Amino acid sequence: MLLRVAQVLTPEELTQVRQLVLTAPWSDGRITAGVQSGAVKNNLQLPEELPEAQQARHIVSVALARNPMFVTGALPKSVYPPLFNRYGGQSNAFGNHIDNAVRTHAATARHVRTDISCTLFLSEPQTYDGGELVVQDTYGEQSIKFAAGDLVMYPGTSVHRVTPVTRGERLACFFWIESMVRSDAQRRLLYDMDMAITALRQKDLDRAGRDQAHVESDEVVRLTGCYHNLLRMWADV
Ligand code: NI
Repeated sequence: MLLRVAQVLTPEELTQVRQLVLTAPWSDGRITAGVQSGAVKNNLQLPEELPEAQQARHIVSVALARNPMFVTGALPKSVYPPLFNRYGGQSNAFGNHIDNAVRTHAATARHVRTDISCTLFLSEPQTYDGGELVVQDTYGEQSIKFAAGDLVMYPGTSVHRVTPVTRGERLACFFWIESMVRSDAQRRLLYDMDMAITALRQKDLDRAGRDQAHVESDEVVRLTGCYHNLLRMWADV
């Protein structure tokens, strides 16, 4: 499942994150690459131990935790602490690769299985050319370039690349999620069900008027039960 989560960061948070990371010293992006991805990776990355990276990471982590769309789409069990990269000038692209299956966080030695890969866009799309995230899936290639503050999540199993940035600079935050529900197909089913139940509940509310206490239909209650029973069956927590 490829999912867009719009406006994860507020404009103020976006400004704060950009200011923090742009003033910090950057390194070659190959610091976290494996052998295969290292051969095709040509970008800059913010060393994760820098105080600026820690502060920016904290802003992003708080924003993610409060976002219901992110939580329902990812059902996160463990999130690898967000990292930051930039593409531009001579360091402007990342060829086809699949992200490593397991990431080990250096500071905590904690393992995160990368069920879901995420990119949170930090540059406005009109400020750079190229820099599309291209994700291959069963329907063909999806080319993604979202507004600053928006996030895309896609299966960690996907082959993907970032096309060369030919003008301006593409700044982004990226990270991985180990989900409570390992299977992409099961996560998708739960997500679709959750969205449908939310819409049904809204219809009940609209019909009954917002000030009544017990407006949920019996069907909504039962479907919500089915959602939770499926989650109970599939979740590994
Ligand atoms: Ni990648």
